[in-house]
Amino acid sequence: MDFTLVGDDDSEYFRNLHGRILNTLNTNYLIPVDDDQVKATQQRSELHHRLLQFVFGGRNYVGPVKEVLQFGQQRKILDLGTGGGFWPIDMADEFPRAEVIGVDLAPIQPRTVPPNCTFELCDLDQWHIPYPDNHFDFIHARSIHIGIRNYPRFLHEIARLLRPGGLVLLIEPDLNPVPERTSSDREPVSMHGWSTLWETYRTCLRRQGVDITVPQRLSDLLAATGAYENIVVRDGNIPVGFWPQDPHLLTVGQLQWMDYELFLPALSPLFLSNNLPIPTVDRIIKEAQQDLYFPSDSLSTHLHIVYASKCF
Ligand SMILES: C[S@@+](CC[C@H](N)C(=O)[O-])C[C@H]1O[C@@H](n2cnc3c(N)ncnc32)[C@H](O)[C@@H]1O
Repeated sequence: MDFTLVGDDDSEYFRNLHGRILNTLNTNYLIPVDDDQVKATQQRSELHHRLLQFVFGGRNYVGPVKEVLQFGQQRKILDLGTGGGFWPIDMADEFPRAEVIGVDLAPIQPRTVPPNCTFELCDLDQWHIPYPDNHFDFIHARSIHIGIRNYPRFLHEIARLLRPGGLVLLIEPDLNPVPERTSSDREPVSMHGWSTLWETYRTCLRRQGVDITVPQRLSDLLAATGAYENIVVRDGNIPVGFWPQDPHLLTVGQLQWMDYELFLPALSPLFLSNNLPIPTVDRIIKEAQQDLYFPSDSLSTHLHIVYASKCF
């Protein structure tokens, strides 16, 4: 399969499932792209992007990105699972002499973009992602693993696409956000609605053939390909909600809270497609929302962040 350029009529790339709008290129990926005609995915994507920018001190990346992009002819950057396209647009602005490409299953990116930024459509869960060998200097893949059933193959493909010495940056949020252990003498309070939703989510993903252990194994999976060196882990905890005292962490917590608020109802097509009855799905989402709105403890989640260079 090749990638696709989208014209004015993009309706063939969307389908309706359980009253929600989903992509057509990969029927296994069941997170909707549209919520009641409000572009909730774009909103979520932007929140996610701003949150990570904030966590990275205003930057769009960690690792030796500037070094990798600084010399030579026109540099090439690829963003896999680009969502609303905020990351490639910011990267195109920051590196005006680089060519930046964002790829996704659905054409939900803006049509007016910097001249050095383009968007393309492709299911990335396949052998031969349609770009040449040794073509890119920097590849970024963030929060995409639930749409990639064969993640080791995906990492091999990234290695094929990178030039020797090129950099990959992988970022995946944990699939088990939990109450924070705030003091050593107190057990975290269990939040039943919240943990049931995440357990249901993990079960459904497993049934869809997704390896839910990928986020915590990113560095091992990179090493297992034998194609990468200088593998660096930069994991971090992210607060959820309004509990942090520190103003920087408070902003992060607020952004992550808003991200989850949009995310919880987006899980219904996945749950319904796994044969859960509508009332059960409604209850699971509602009880998780209750815990998010009125938490009995301080929630936090974990971001798995790894970068590595392709071996020479
Ligand atoms: C949670 S969003 C993250 C968007 C963006 N990377 C970010 O961090 O803001 C995941 C994106 O990956 C895309 N995606 C998931 N599986 C994919 C696949 N197999 N091929 C291409 N894109 C995929 C989805 O369509 C969605 O836009």
